[in-house]
Amino acid sequence: MGTITQLTKVPHHLAIIMDGNGRWAQSRGLPRLAGHRAGTENIRRILKSCVEHDIKILTLYAFSTENWGRPSAEVRGIMRILEQTIDRELPELHRNGVQLRHIGRLEGISEKLKQKVRQAIELTKHNDRIILNVAFNYGGRTEILDAVRRIVENGVDPDRLDGGLFSQYLYTAGLPDPDLIIRTAGELRISNFLIWQGAYAEYYATPTYWPDFDEEELHSALLEYSGRERRFGLISGD
Ligand code: IPE
Ligand code: IPE
Ligand code: MG
Repeated sequence: MGTITQLTKVPHHLAIIMDGNGRWAQSRGLPRLAGHRAGTENIRRILKSCVEHDIKILTLYAFSTENWGRPSAEVRGIMRILEQTIDRELPELHRNGVQLRHIGRLEGISEKLKQKVRQAIELTKHNDRIILNVAFNYGGRTEILDAVRRIVENGVDPDRLDGGLFSQYLYTAGLPDPDLIIRTAGELRISNFLIWQGAYAEYYATPTYWPDFDEEELHSALLEYSGRERRFGLISGD
């Protein structure tokens, strides 16, 4: 409680690139999948902490369109862990007022997992404590291409096309842009995540692997965000 009050502002929409599961496992002599399991388990405590900070939208990058290129055993393992996570966590997420959403393509995902994702979205659609937006089979370039395809198909008048209208064709339609994007595990790159929506997001990177990223780490990120001046191309103090 005391620490939360130090923050002069919190992001309305926080997005996290949950990286470093594999290295976390390897550093402990464990198989990479153990890292993915530990990574999904970490979601619960970070989500809880976000609710306590009154963050309204949490977007988590869980699986990219490029991640399909990993060895098939790892990909299959990640899919299985995701199914198990939905089964295990859904009742409590629902009880806690979490609205689940998905961004990315459902095409290419197994029927069973697709069904689970659809049911979870349907069950929680009226919850309003926090939106948990899971980026799964997500790629920023694919998202933009999907949007352009639908804009062309709909015969949108080019003169009407602006940023606002374009945003309505993205997977995140209706959601505000992320205010802060955190990347765990040290890399300083965006890896195809929210490339349109993140145009003016603040960035924060930490060397900590995702399974070790705890409430204190989150608080450090929020504290730094709280001290940032967002200018959006204007001049200080405008
Ligand atoms: C992030 O952890 C999770 C996914 C990309 C699915 P990684 O699996 O990329 O972990 P590192 O980067 O290899 O440590
Ligand atoms: C980004 O991590 C994707 C997710 C966290 C889901 P990667 O591990 O796939 O990214 P790169 O390969 O380091 O750019
Ligand atoms: Mg990685």
